[in-house]
Amino acid sequence: MRSKNLFLATVFVFLGLNLSASADTLYLKAGRMIDGLSDRAIDNPVVRIEDGRIAEVGRNNSLAIPGGVDVIDLGNRTILPGLMDAHVHLTSNHDDKGYRGLIVSLPRAAINGVANARKTLMAGFTTVRNVGADGFSDIALRDAINDGDVPGPRLLVSGPTICGTGGHCDNNFLPKEYNAQADGVANGPWAMRAKVRENIKYGADLIKITATGGVFSKGTTVGGRHFTMEELIAVVEEAHLRDLKVAAHAHGTEGIKYAIRAGVDSVEHASMLDGEAIQLAKDHGTFLSMDIYNTEYTLAEGEKTGALPENIEKERQVGTVQRESFRRAVEAGVKVVLGSDAAIYPHGDNGKQLSRMVRFGMTPMQAVKAATSLNAELFGRAQDVGAIEAGRYADIIAVDGDPLDDISILETVPFVMKGGVVYKNE
Ligand code: ARG
Repeated sequence: MRSKNLFLATVFVFLGLNLSASADTLYLKAGRMIDGLSDRAIDNPVVRIEDGRIAEVGRNNSLAIPGGVDVIDLGNRTILPGLMDAHVHLTSNHDDKGYRGLIVSLPRAAINGVANARKTLMAGFTTVRNVGADGFSDIALRDAINDGDVPGPRLLVSGPTICGTGGHCDNNFLPKEYNAQADGVANGPWAMRAKVRENIKYGADLIKITATGGVFSKGTTVGGRHFTMEELIAVVEEAHLRDLKVAAHAHGTEGIKYAIRAGVDSVEHASMLDGEAIQLAKDHGTFLSMDIYNTEYTLAEGEKTGALPENIEKERQVGTVQRESFRRAVEAGVKVVLGSDAAIYPHGDNGKQLSRMVRFGMTPMQAVKAATSLNAELFGRAQDVGAIEAGRYADIIAVDGDPLDDISILETVPFVMKGGVVYKNE
């Protein structure tokens, strides 16, 4: 039955408006449920939603729906928690690589963010971490979404990425006379502590650093370590004092180990893992966010996106190795989450990484958890997102068929609810 809430939400989405959580009670009914925590799917779930949060979850018809209430009946669809991505760049686009990025102004980047936030939400991703944006455009985007001005996922944002002069986060494209420098550049422990404090002052939810060179920067090598231990510890200590997590970009083995030893919460990319790095991640409980879909995209499309030959060559250096590292980390039981680096490939295709995570060693259930409850743990948000469980936000998606049979069906999500509000129901 088509409920009043559903109708209203559809109208509001059509108007491009966000509807704050409905105060009414709403019931959601489906054929199956993967709740993000249990090891098995559950039949005939019924979810009672109050004020945008999950109030009660019934399994196998155990929860009766009273008469006269609003019901969204999803038939035999499978419901899951809204997906989560630990690594996106909503203010950038896939086709602004290399020198093309230089003509994108900060206001334009902010507008990119509006368009890409909508695409990401419509793809079923209801919470994502935006890890790196100059000009604090990510903070404006998060606030606009929270204020209900534009539709988008729940955002945890870092503000500008922090790195040293000429590091992966810096603007290395122009000659000296242009004096181009990225917002997050700082050198030495105290300058880096000051950057952390500044990011927090202007609203960051987490801190992002680049502990090695990277694929898409100019003049860095993927193996090169870019921080001293002293600098890393300074950043981590400063962030942790204020209860913020630290996400460290690192491809090379030494850089990964330094970051883990310094106490970062997640290593992003984590491409070149050896046995010791894997053991360190296990011992420290460090999460690994490994973007194993975009290798295919960059090798096939990179040239068209503006990427320099240097960038494509570096992608060749990390791609295969990263996938092998992924397999070994999963096998060893490291906490590997879904982090896709959206903006390397077009926003909204985040779900494509799930099938690669299964191809390189996860079970479909593991991949779903890596994209939901495990990410919630990394984000420090296990109390309110990442599972269909009483108390958490009603961030719920539905798909036709069973993702445990074919994980790729999560690439096309026909039903998206965030905070009890339906944003999409096809
Ligand atoms: N932002 C990352 C970098 O520039 C992307 C790496 C993409 N490649 C990969 N295989 N994960 O380094």
